[in-house]
Amino acid sequence: MLFRRHNSALRSAVLVILCCLSAWGEGASPARPANYNERKVGTYKLPDPLILADGSRVKTAAEWEEKGRPEILRLFATQMFGRTPPASLKTSVGNVIVDQNALGATAIRKQTTITFTRGTDSRSMHLLLYLPAETKGPVPVFLGLNFAGNQTVSADPGIDLNPVWVRDPLDQRKWIQVAADPKTRGSAASRWQVEKILSHGFGVATVYYGDIEPDFVGGMSYGIRPLFFAPGQTEPLPDEWGAIGAWAWGLSRAADFLQTDKDINPKEIFVIGHSRLGKTALWAGAQDTRFAMVISNDSGEGGAALSRRDFGETIERLNAVFPHWFCGNYKQYSNHAEKLPFDSHMLLALIAPRPLYVASAEDDLWSDPKGEFLGAVHAGPVYELLGKKGLGTDRMPAIHHPIQHDIGYHIRAGKHDVTAYDWDQYLKFAEMHFSH
Ligand code: GCU
Repeated sequence: MLFRRHNSALRSAVLVILCCLSAWGEGASPARPANYNERKVGTYKLPDPLILADGSRVKTAAEWEEKGRPEILRLFATQMFGRTPPASLKTSVGNVIVDQNALGATAIRKQTTITFTRGTDSRSMHLLLYLPAETKGPVPVFLGLNFAGNQTVSADPGIDLNPVWVRDPLDQRKWIQVAADPKTRGSAASRWQVEKILSHGFGVATVYYGDIEPDFVGGMSYGIRPLFFAPGQTEPLPDEWGAIGAWAWGLSRAADFLQTDKDINPKEIFVIGHSRLGKTALWAGAQDTRFAMVISNDSGEGGAALSRRDFGETIERLNAVFPHWFCGNYKQYSNHAEKLPFDSHMLLALIAPRPLYVASAEDDLWSDPKGEFLGAVHAGPVYELLGKKGLGTDRMPAIHHPIQHDIGYHIRAGKHDVTAYDWDQYLKFAEMHFSH
């Protein structure tokens, strides 16, 4: 017993050190050290998602749709992710290259390039789609951005090797665009579980997030944001979108394309994302109600985790290390989470009444699993108002004991990642809500 206790104390200490190291990975940060002590979390009061700015209470589903939801959406847009420009760009879809016999004839693979143009400036994103070879009709599709190129999601040699952004091997401070290395084929396959998804009768689609905007300070000029600038503008205004907003926009443009494919059920496109791309999936799902289900995998601070709960990553550190992710206005909340006019539960509530899944990993303390769970708990009242079922408890479930109603939540063993276990839950949840 004593030995076991020591063992777990040692394990926690190692985890905290690992989390701190990962926190330093992306760039130097002057931020104070992260808190990993539950007793030092402090007390906080969450804003009520059903109380409007004028103090009145949202009492009906209609009032939520007409007043509550738009008000909260506007706050997230102007204070955190930045407003997505309403304008649309000239968009052209290239040839769709189809292989009816992909993955040992279990899948249909489709690939295309979607190009956005303004004047003489253009950007292209490459989309990869797998559909199950045998279906009785249009299928639901999981859509998510990937971190390092479409070729990473499966070892399938038919996936195009498009350009990706990597750190310059000659100068680690710089980023360069190179053709994807064939050796990286399938390097993220365990995160995508393509065969598993297909075997359940779902499709899966992905786009490399760097196609929409490469993820580094200064990457903006290579992405789509400048295509929306007013004449002479070189930086977004304080309430205009950051990179996460741009990536979320890319997801919506991918959905535009998926909705035109007759093999896909246009009402069953699910958006999923891991970590920073989990934050992105939530913001995409909050804005674009065509996403019929939203999955946040280990999205942490700036995603599902409550910001007022001081545990793991903080707004201060997000703003210091990833200043390009959020809008300028978000900087005023560094060290001042209590001043936010919302918290993560209200971002999650924007998904209601659509099915929402939040997942955590036990060793991913940086993302604050308990804060992610509580974000989902406190989105519950909005789901209930809309006649849906939230988590129905505020007691965190044990490892590998998912709760699945209209909001789903699980915490699994292991580190910050997407695993087969996570996908087993997402597939079950999707099957619960969408018969196909
Ligand atoms: C960093 C960052 C997190 C983010 C994660 C990821 O750890 O601090 O906010 O979620 O990267 O995207 O992997």
